[in-house]
Amino acid sequence: MTISRRHMFACAFAMALLPCAADAQSLQPWRAKVTDFATQNLKHPAWGFSHSQRDYALAKSMAAADHVTLDDDVLFAAAYLHDMGAFKAFAEDKQEHGDVAAAKIDLVLGETDFPKAKLDAVRAAIRTHMYNYDPVGPEARYLHDADALDWLGAVGVARLIALVDNGGAKPTGPDMIKGIENNMTKVPPRIVTPAGKALVAPLLAEEKAFLDALRRETDNLARL
Ligand SMILES: [Fe+2]
Repeated sequence: MTISRRHMFACAFAMALLPCAADAQSLQPWRAKVTDFATQNLKHPAWGFSHSQRDYALAKSMAAADHVTLDDDVLFAAAYLHDMGAFKAFAEDKQEHGDVAAAKIDLVLGETDFPKAKLDAVRAAIRTHMYNYDPVGPEARYLHDADALDWLGAVGVARLIALVDNGGAKPTGPDMIKGIENNMTKVPPRIVTPAGKALVAPLLAEEKAFLDALRRETDNLARL
């Protein structure tokens, strides 16, 4: 891979800003509707709108690094709607949130100018977005890896720490440190794309450095 990690994240960050920076009216109507929906309805520190922005941008950036062409309509819709099934307003009891989201994208994309022939590809990418699934097809594979890598590195730490209960109940800080370590073990072997695999080691190094310092400064988490 000729692209550097720093360059990939810089490009991903720049692309992540585009949906915000662009005048919503200049977007295709369905993209404006998806962006508005996600901004208004998907508010969460770990799997909200900013997570979708990162997934979209990083998936594009990794595919470019691998010289793989993605259908941007499919990727955009899947990236911004893939976690809607994790929100109370849309969740279904005992159903995996990716399956729920795949079944409910018509609530957002229905009666828009989104190309109907691409809906099945969006649903497929959403169903397999979690790291423990096996994605098929380019958009599904790069969304899967972007979503998995968002559990690692500084962002992975920030997302899990954001889930600590601020009233002192569970999950506690040490609980989420275990969660971070769990992700560091379970996520890397599930990455499927060449560009994604190249990002794993540096992201793990970031986390290890943070966790080593945290343990040093908290009597091995006893004072966290
Ligand atoms: Fe996600």
